[in-house]
Amino acid sequence: MRIFLDTAMIDEIREVARWGILSGITTNPTLMSKNAGKTHEDVIREIASIVDGPISAETISLDTDGMVTEGRRFAAWHPNVVVKVPSTPNGWAAVKRLADEGIRTNVTLCFSANQALFAALAGAYIISPFVGRLDDISEDGMQVVRDTVEIYRQHHLPTLVLAASIRHPLHIIAAAQAGADIATVPFKVLEQAAKHPLTDKGIETFLKDWEKFSHEQR
Ligand code: G3P
Repeated sequence: MRIFLDTAMIDEIREVARWGILSGITTNPTLMSKNAGKTHEDVIREIASIVDGPISAETISLDTDGMVTEGRRFAAWHPNVVVKVPSTPNGWAAVKRLADEGIRTNVTLCFSANQALFAALAGAYIISPFVGRLDDISEDGMQVVRDTVEIYRQHHLPTLVLAASIRHPLHIIAAAQAGADIATVPFKVLEQAAKHPLTDKGIETFLKDWEKFSHEQR
């Protein structure tokens, strides 16, 4: 399973790119709105200069023509741009038209395996089931990921399953166990998942012992 960062903040992207584990970026209008003073194009181009992998940029149109127009514009910014459209009939229609032009899409706001099936049939490159937002309303968000992975495998559908709306480190493990191709993770959750107190304690002890050892050798 690949790790994407779910952010439009350049500092966060630079930091995780440094770790050597980052394969792509997802953004959405809420995340993008934190970049006051920059244009959408500026931010996507800057991200593309840091990360060599798919970068999702989300459309805001509700009609198919609007999504296709936005998608063509985004795709011209960089070859790694993937156009995000919502899980709606208009969204699937946009996926089909953009796919026919060779433009990759990420179908977002997916809350059911049926929506995931339809996105794949339309030719989506990525489907994004939202795990945390389903958990928020007492549904099992990860079950949609499991069901989608099973359906895609069984019917040989090549669309990549991206677990989105990841809220805590255990979601990352569960997404990997469910067979998701990608998990997109907010910076804070990735930091939480990266740290372990026993690693820090172990480093401290090793350094202290090494200090004693090298002192005795002088
Ligand atoms: O990028 C889409 C998704 O990951 C948003 O997550 O936490 O706002 O539900 P969240």
